[in-house]
Amino acid sequence: MVGKILVIGGTGSCGRNVVKQLEKKGQSVLVAARDEKKFKEMKFGKNTTFVKFDFNSKDTWKCALDGVDRVFLMALPLDDTPEKSMEPFINELKQSKKIKKIVFLSVLNAERFPIIKIETLIKDSGIPYSFLRPPFFMENLTDGFMKDELKQGSLSAPVGDHATAWISTQDIGDCAASLLLEESGKYDNQVINITGPAPITYPQICQLLSKYTGKNVKYNDVKPADFNKACLSKGMPQGSVQYLADLFQAVVDDKTNTVHMGVQQLTGHQPKSFECFIQESFASSARPGI
Ligand SMILES: NC(=O)c1ccc[n+]([C@@H]2O[C@H](COP(=O)([O-])OP(=O)(O)OC[C@H]3O[C@@H](n4cnc5c(N)ncnc54)[C@H](OP(=O)(O)O)[C@@H]3O)[C@@H](O)[C@H]2O)c1
Repeated sequence: MVGKILVIGGTGSCGRNVVKQLEKKGQSVLVAARDEKKFKEMKFGKNTTFVKFDFNSKDTWKCALDGVDRVFLMALPLDDTPEKSMEPFINELKQSKKIKKIVFLSVLNAERFPIIKIETLIKDSGIPYSFLRPPFFMENLTDGFMKDELKQGSLSAPVGDHATAWISTQDIGDCAASLLLEESGKYDNQVINITGPAPITYPQICQLLSKYTGKNVKYNDVKPADFNKACLSKGMPQGSVQYLADLFQAVVDDKTNTVHMGVQQLTGHQPKSFECFIQESFASSARPGI
């Protein structure tokens, strides 16, 4: 029987969709994050509760793990030293001896990035795991690092017209929920690549945005050094800037344009297309300001 499920980062772009999909499947959920106000704004169902949790504050961990036997785990965005906060927490999960499954949100081509250290720590913990490895999220346009520039009518990236099989966090949430509720152990200790249904380039994304917003959205194909400089000038820490540069390098190396069947395999449905995402997110007056 599936016990209590803890969703770490359950108010974030991806985590909130894990929670919503678990709710749809009739599961009660414990959402772990620092800011309860954000949790309240999410208006989750009545069987979803909040627990204060901070990777950097060990005194919050015991309470968050009380009665829990499955965990959705993620690293913080663009954290170039994720092991600093996560290694002690993974040790805590191991020592509790109660965790039957960790579903970890990793990233496509994880070997190239600091997040691989977390995959290794989880493997070494002996706790059954499934790693989900997605490429860039479509929701970066609405919640993430692309949002502010898009409001000004452009997108910048140092990737030319190399393509990525972008994925929606709704599909990631669906995959994670299926894995958390899977009791047969079918996907235990597996690494699952998940992508959207087709590779798409920045110029094509801008075309779709122009089509659905009725405004001209321009692609700036910038040099890597200029992109990095712009990130630093906005206050992004050097380590995160390098992490993002490495993610873009994987795109340029054509490591993110292959379509993987993980979403279909785990959920039984096709992943959302970028066009559908853009239509839903930008075609109505629900999103003025772009
Ligand atoms: N964006 C992409 O294109 C992409 C692609 C592939 C993989 N990923 C992976 O996805 C993850 C990021 O997911 P996301 O975009 O859903 O993140 P997000 O939207 O930034 O959400 C972060 C979540 O973590 C919580 N959080 C922040 N600091 C915390 C702390 N110190 N302790 C505990 N919780 C904390 C936040 O809530 P509070 O602030 O209230 O704590 C929030 O719920 C990263 O691991 C990244 O490697 C991202």
